[in-house]
Amino acid sequence: MEYQNLIFKVENKIAAVIINRPEKLNALNNKTIEELGIVFKIIKDDDDVKVVVVTGAGEKAFVAGADISELNSLNAITGKRFSEKGQDVFSQIENLGKPVIAAINGFALGGGCELALACHIRLASGNAMFGQPEVNLGIIPGYGGTQRLARLINPGRAAEYILTGDMISAEEALRIGLVNKVFEQSELIPKAYKMAEKIISKGQIAVQMALKAVVSSSELNLNEGLKIESGLFALTTSTKDFKEGTKAFLEKRKPEFKGE
Ligand code: COA
Repeated sequence: MEYQNLIFKVENKIAAVIINRPEKLNALNNKTIEELGIVFKIIKDDDDVKVVVVTGAGEKAFVAGADISELNSLNAITGKRFSEKGQDVFSQIENLGKPVIAAINGFALGGGCELALACHIRLASGNAMFGQPEVNLGIIPGYGGTQRLARLINPGRAAEYILTGDMISAEEALRIGLVNKVFEQSELIPKAYKMAEKIISKGQIAVQMALKAVVSSSELNLNEGLKIESGLFALTTSTKDFKEGTKAFLEKRKPEFKGE
């Protein structure tokens, strides 16, 4: 499949999805959202892919938001469709069932910040800048920002950033828990791949079950979440990986997981 605005490659069980419109700071136009939906469907169905790394082309931007040139003509009907389409694609990413690491290599504004929020792990370069500047355009975040940012960094902080449109530096993003780690730009992709490789070296059924449990935590109350956790925990005890992991520990050797 040929993509107009994405680069997609799979190597050693890691899929790379690169938003590729650097001349527009990788802004998400309709075509790009559509292609993201297609590529993540392909990734979901490809058993060979275990982890995904999402980043932006060039050194300046991860994604500088929805494409403002396409926003201008929206009305209440098309605006709802626009928002729901982006939300669906980002929920597809969050519910992929495989870990998605955002390697945020520059501006992550508006839809770019929302794309990062839909990923499971966020790594950033020192020049990354986050923000939900939609109020500057007279609109609000529409790809999940009001919900995911509030859940991740707390409603008070999310309200501040969404209502002022202020940008958040990588350093501040690290301090408030918006990103997991910050690296030199040249180190960002190697570190993201290193993390992906580490995850791949673990028992893959355990990785999938753990991800499912963690992702469900934002939608469930504690008791419901604990029930999900014990069900998934029980499932992992029926795997060969579990037998191998515990046996290897007792035999003081590295486990050889087979994802079974
Ligand atoms: N939509 C469409 N085009 C965008 C864009 C967006 N969200 N963000 C950047 N671009 C385009 C610019 O229009 C410019 O195109 P041009 O060269 O054809 O004029 C190109 O990308 C480079 O951007 P520029 O503004 O010249 O870079 P800068 O370094 O001066 O500023 C930003 C960088 C990110 C601060 C600035 O581009 C910006 O504020 N972008 C919009 C961010 C935003 O509001 N996002 C939320 C949208 S809902």
